[in-house]
Amino acid sequence: MKKLSLTLLAASLAACATPQPQVATTPVPAPATAAPTTALVPLERDVHSYARPNEARVTHVALDLATDFAAKTLTGTATLTVARAPNAREIVLDTKGLEILGVTDGGGAPLRHATGAGDPILGAPLTVQLPTTSDRVVIRYRTSPDAGALQWLTPAQTAGKQHPYLFSQGQAILTRTWIPTQDSPGIRQTYEARVTVPAELRAVMSAEQLTPDGEPAAGGRAFRFRLDQAIPPYLIAIAVGDIAFRPLGPRSGVYAEPSVVDSAAREFVDVERMIDAAESLYGPYRWGRYDILVLPPSFPFGGMENPRLTFATPTILAGDRSLVSLIAHELAHSWSGNLVTNATWSDFWLNEGFTTYIENRIMEALYGRDIAVMLQQLERTELESEIAGFGTDTGETVLHIDLAGRDPDEGMTNIAYDKGSAFLRMLEHAVGRERFDTYLRSYFDRHAFQPITTSQFLADMKANLLGGDEARYAALQVNRWVFGAGLPSNAPVPASDRFARVEAQARAFVRGTPPARLDTTGWVTQEWQHFIGSLPDTMTLRQMGDLDQQFRFTQSGNSEVLFAWLRKAIASRYAPAMPALERFLTTQGRRKFLVPLYQDLMKADWGRQVARRIYATARPLYHPVSTGSIDQIVK
Ligand code: BES
Ligand code: ZN
Repeated sequence: MKKLSLTLLAASLAACATPQPQVATTPVPAPATAAPTTALVPLERDVHSYARPNEARVTHVALDLATDFAAKTLTGTATLTVARAPNAREIVLDTKGLEILGVTDGGGAPLRHATGAGDPILGAPLTVQLPTTSDRVVIRYRTSPDAGALQWLTPAQTAGKQHPYLFSQGQAILTRTWIPTQDSPGIRQTYEARVTVPAELRAVMSAEQLTPDGEPAAGGRAFRFRLDQAIPPYLIAIAVGDIAFRPLGPRSGVYAEPSVVDSAAREFVDVERMIDAAESLYGPYRWGRYDILVLPPSFPFGGMENPRLTFATPTILAGDRSLVSLIAHELAHSWSGNLVTNATWSDFWLNEGFTTYIENRIMEALYGRDIAVMLQQLERTELESEIAGFGTDTGETVLHIDLAGRDPDEGMTNIAYDKGSAFLRMLEHAVGRERFDTYLRSYFDRHAFQPITTSQFLADMKANLLGGDEARYAALQVNRWVFGAGLPSNAPVPASDRFARVEAQARAFVRGTPPARLDTTGWVTQEWQHFIGSLPDTMTLRQMGDLDQQFRFTQSGNSEVLFAWLRKAIASRYAPAMPALERFLTTQGRRKFLVPLYQDLMKADWGRQVARRIYATARPLYHPVSTGSIDQIVK
């Protein structure tokens, strides 16, 4: 009796120390020669994966890949460790565009396998007969030159112009275009990799670096990596290029091309303090190091929370640290998303809504309440325009979104971020900050290294935050928040005094006060963003010119300010900003900036011509994620 409980205790302690994939520790008795079988903790059905993880589940991925920049391919092997239910005979993997060159067991004996019919969104299932005497499946394969997760940049597309560059972007369902595994966010896997690259380049991954300087290998240099924490496959990430490093703090640093790395290090001086702030709110940072990789300008997102190594756009290098909330956001994912993960893409708001809320808490801890409330109000403005754009008679403004038959990318709108964070802020106000913080911290501890569904979260919240009080739960309109359209009546209203003053200055300008006489003393980036956002949709050329002469918006080196200004410039057909618009559209590839600007241009005849001309030259510079969206807009 005593012995049994000690064993159980030891097992649960071990599980805490080294997060492992969700497989129970009790082996099911099996003949000595057969592969071990395991009781698999059941997982939610994910409509965006072919995997049947309740039968057989990948628990570890070992990659050995060579990069070929001329052919734009990765070639090599993925050795999968598989946990299986007692009667499982085969495992189903996700693939998209992969050329499968052979499948064997760990000893090199061929395994029967077949690729099923393909789907334009999901790719194709690869079904492999499981080996009877081991738990290893070795897949030899090659990626396609147009693998959706990989962007192969020519030297001209980099900052240094000397060397090519490769980076991956797995979220949501693109990892299957470079790794044959079970590509579902609920199926956590540890991983290791050996990557061979041209001798003058360096590889980095979302993992511990075992060989920071690489080691000589046939055809170049090899870099080895290992991640002991089990993660969803969308977080496996790689970049290869001419990449330098600068330390930021004891457990943080920044990677970027040599010509960018020093300005990046200056921009991100506060990162170590951000980690400390997040830890004091939500418990230990469980990933060891936190580094940032600043990518070449075609990176299609602002940031991507790859574990241990956030990927970030260079457009946040404003020179004055004014756009670092993006780093707070990606860091926050180390709890919401990477530690506790949306079980399916319909639960995406659990990743992004929580992260947007936590991002704001980190910003408040570092820079104070004023900045935090201004950021909340910018979020709210964005949310209202998003809801207005969709209308409330569609399902698009619902947090738990129905994505059956659709590309999950389509459900990844601002709603998940901004309505999600507003929901959490409403809960915070309802129960008080102290109780809410205690709850969130316990939530991350209790669900660490596990997937979570929306209904699991709601049950957890009802029980552990509201003490099971059904009436309270109903009064907070929880179901309306999560399953209903639009914004419920108890949405908190952020009110920033500083923004109220900004709006007063915008009104004064509209009434005729010359820009030189507006009171803009001490304004920070967020106030300038809000000022531009508060101006009328279209203005006269005189108004635009007066503002520009005084505030130099067209020359702004701040991407958010410039973006807000360029939208006004298009709406007012303000010609002096057109060269800056063209430069902005051809020197960075962040989808969040590109899509609205092309949409704005396409609203008028003159703009359509400009959009088509610029897109014709810029398109080859953009990432497939961005062209996928802009192709629908510029026709
Ligand atoms: N995880 C997202 C990026 C993402 C979402 C990639 C969906 C693929 C599919 C990341 O954390 C993110 O939200 N990035 C934002 C920045 C953030 C400050 C709102 C972005 O890229 O704009
Ligand atoms: Zn995010």
